[in-house]
Amino acid sequence: MTTRSHPWSAGFRTLAEEHDYRVAEIDGRVPATLRGTLFRNGPGRNDLAGRWFPHWFDGDGMISSIRFDDHGIHFRNRYVATDNYRDETRAGRIAHRGFGKMRPGGLLANAFRIPANVSNTSVVMEGDQLLSLWEGGPPYVLDPATLETRHVEPFGGKVRAFSAHPRRDPESGALFNFGIDYAAKCTLTPYRLDKGVLTRLPPITLPYAVMNHDFVLTKSYLVFCLGPILSTPLAFLLGFKSFDGALHWDAKRPTLILLVPRAGGAARIIEAEPFFQFHFANGFEEDGAVVLDLARYPDYLTIGQALRDYWKSDWPAQGMAKLTRLRIDLATGNVESRTYDTGTANEFPIVNPAFVGKRHRYAYINCDAADSVGGMQRRIAKVDLDGGTVVTHDFGPDGYPGEPLFIATPGGMAEDDGVIVILVFDATRQATDIVGLDARDLAAKPLFVGRLKHCLPFTFHGTFTPQLY
Ligand SMILES: [Fe+2]
Repeated sequence: MTTRSHPWSAGFRTLAEEHDYRVAEIDGRVPATLRGTLFRNGPGRNDLAGRWFPHWFDGDGMISSIRFDDHGIHFRNRYVATDNYRDETRAGRIAHRGFGKMRPGGLLANAFRIPANVSNTSVVMEGDQLLSLWEGGPPYVLDPATLETRHVEPFGGKVRAFSAHPRRDPESGALFNFGIDYAAKCTLTPYRLDKGVLTRLPPITLPYAVMNHDFVLTKSYLVFCLGPILSTPLAFLLGFKSFDGALHWDAKRPTLILLVPRAGGAARIIEAEPFFQFHFANGFEEDGAVVLDLARYPDYLTIGQALRDYWKSDWPAQGMAKLTRLRIDLATGNVESRTYDTGTANEFPIVNPAFVGKRHRYAYINCDAADSVGGMQRRIAKVDLDGGTVVTHDFGPDGYPGEPLFIATPGGMAEDDGVIVILVFDATRQATDIVGLDARDLAAKPLFVGRLKHCLPFTFHGTFTPQLY
């Protein structure tokens, strides 16, 4: 079910087993300052009855827990017990619509059924609860120690969709997020979750239905860049097309930069030339401008197709994203743009989480060599956004790293005083490594490499807590 010419392809294979074991093989040493638990989420089951799901986003959410303790590394993985996971496990075939999935049986079997929540995109700790996230529905609450699924959390009916990219304000500790509702009118509802209390900010009616995945939190705003990736909700609702099939790129429309005041009040829209992004690294306000760092795609065409073909895609470098800084002048609405020397296929940009909404100097991002023509990324880059210099760590020829995650060293003073932890699919070993890099010296030999006994299918996003679970 995988292709020989695409060594990364095996990194998408389903992991059916739920493991719970101490990692026996560790090269190097986990620093004494790195103690806590890293959780990651991603599609763990990407096929049923011998057939791949039609889109990478269809896979069932599986949570991994990686605990760094005095004895080394402990690994555990468990599926989120969603209705979709339980029903399709029982049936052994597709039972629900998904992002790209359709139920067998044509129009009648699909009309007026919304995609099932597969809870496969990210995780966040909220108090002593682990929330598993998916942007089309509410979170699932999990026990962080056992990864047992407890219940769905609709926050007293206030939340229909709770995106997988919440941002935590490092000053107040409040978690900001949003959801998009594709009803007769497409609305974007921002949320603030503070000490267990969820507050809806005023919903914004969008001029047309768009897909949006992430946003940026600055001191005063939630900032959205709504590229012209338009949905045709009726075709989807009537069962003619999947959610993915009902999306189309409309290059004649602008990207709408939406500035939503944190304190409430009317949102402002600034029009920019069309572009698309899944992910932002961070953003901040400076000298009357809002500055955003993002992995910017010229459109949704190349990435949209690669995500459909995931396991068999060439992942062409041409048409993929570049790390880009946008400077939006708040007085004039003028948008300036610059890119960095981060090669090709830039994705999953991150910063030290203590710098959310503040001026950051460093970003970390997946990428590939400038002369690469395709394939999944084999590098992580550290970018000095002030000086423009780029340092890379190359996992080639056989290593395929996922999203980097920055874990700050307790008591560390510098922005880059921490460890970058990445899951790397080793195509030679046909298994996944847990790799720790010194963020101050990214190109150096890893601090540690913990070798899992199996492949962990490529994950999307993660979170770290200093708690030992
Ligand atoms: Fe994401």
